[in-house]
Amino acid sequence: MGQAYIEELSQYEGQEVTIKGWVYNRRSSGKIQFLLVRDGTGMVQAVMVKKEVSPETFALGRELAQESSIIVKGIVRPDERAPGGYELTLTDLELVHMADEYPITPKEHGVEFLMDHRHLWLRSRRQHAILRIRSEIIKAIRDFLDDRGFVLIDAPLLTPAACEGTTTLFETDYFEEKAFLAQSGQLYMEAAAMAFGKVYCFGPTFRAEKSKTRRHLMEFWMVEPEVAYADHEANMCLQEELVGYVVQRVMEKHIPELEILERDITRLEKIVPPFPRITYDEAIVRLQKAGVDIQWGADFGGGDETILAEQFDRPVFVEKYPVEIKAFYMKPDPDRPEVALCDDLLAPEGYGEIIGGSQRIDDVDLLKQRMREHDLPEETYAWYLDLRRYGSVPHSGFGLGLERTVAWLCGLPHIRETIPFPRLINRLYP
Ligand code: 4AD
Ligand code: MG
Repeated sequence: MGQAYIEELSQYEGQEVTIKGWVYNRRSSGKIQFLLVRDGTGMVQAVMVKKEVSPETFALGRELAQESSIIVKGIVRPDERAPGGYELTLTDLELVHMADEYPITPKEHGVEFLMDHRHLWLRSRRQHAILRIRSEIIKAIRDFLDDRGFVLIDAPLLTPAACEGTTTLFETDYFEEKAFLAQSGQLYMEAAAMAFGKVYCFGPTFRAEKSKTRRHLMEFWMVEPEVAYADHEANMCLQEELVGYVVQRVMEKHIPELEILERDITRLEKIVPPFPRITYDEAIVRLQKAGVDIQWGADFGGGDETILAEQFDRPVFVEKYPVEIKAFYMKPDPDRPEVALCDDLLAPEGYGEIIGGSQRIDDVDLLKQRMREHDLPEETYAWYLDLRRYGSVPHSGFGLGLERTVAWLCGLPHIRETIPFPRLINRLYP
């Protein structure tokens, strides 16, 4: 029998298979050894009985260091107690590489130590579960949008101008010109929406966030849909449908991973649209009632978002923030120009803002005025203003932060484990 992957062992019951992988763990009791083998798709226990293998093979088993790479042959046996439901009766064992003493052992390690060894930490069961769920979330987001006729349009990462305020820009030299790493692909998606109607970009974005929190990365991934002729209301409907779909998909495909992470699944079962909606005004009153010293016009901190979100069992929309505290491109509410047609979606259980979205200004003069108020140079945004000169239409869009969504669905205390190689304020290694 040829090579098999551990996740497909059920197809090979009673047959001999070859598994190429690594030693996750090993224990022996006299005449029997138990090798826990991982191959990237899963883990299986290979049982080696002394009298059924060659003396060399049995001796080799005893010497295997954790994370040594091995090729195992064995017969697939059903075993109800085994994770995955199968066990291997080992018939042959080949050493590919004997590992040095592995730094990550089953004992507890400090976070900094694990982060320094992130390149190895990725092999552990918990990190494996998280990154598999991340991969599924990306696919679910893309399936949702692709099935609804959205076109994926890639936004540039090197840009001449800011999108989300000038304080968090990473600057770099671009042949004697200044360039910035993209904070968002939005402005380019607005151009694309005027060309394709429904579009999105999905890629890394960069922010020099000077604060050290459990919700901020310097490099994070964002999906940014943008829809021509969509208003604020349609924008929020799309957001809740997307989030509902993603949660549903993770529950459908990744219960074993959620169990490894000890995620309370009953909390996720409740995430079904429609989501509750409150205005910024109402949010301020709720915060004041909860004893927070905050006045109309102030932005929310992470703690405020948690207090608000804890009042609901589903994500909650906060709409219509003061224009003063939001980005320059957001359209003011025609009935009340001091607030914007915008929303933040706050995840439950203290995970904070996972989406920021808005209807965009479609009038060229108002947009120019807002850019002046924000000290943004008109020359750099000339192309963006053109979108309001050649067939301007109402349009809306939003950005969903991938890592915050992963943290929430996996129930993680910190955002650092949601991305393979996190970029944090004090960390650029490995
Ligand atoms: O609210 P933000 O800043 O919105 C935008 O960038 C818009 N241009 C999006 C759009 O309308 N196309 O960011 C959107 C989301 C946040 O809700 C949050 O989930 C995530 O991006 N985010 C971060 N995630 C991790 N680390 C950071 N430093 C983040 N900053 C924002
Ligand atoms: Mg925001």
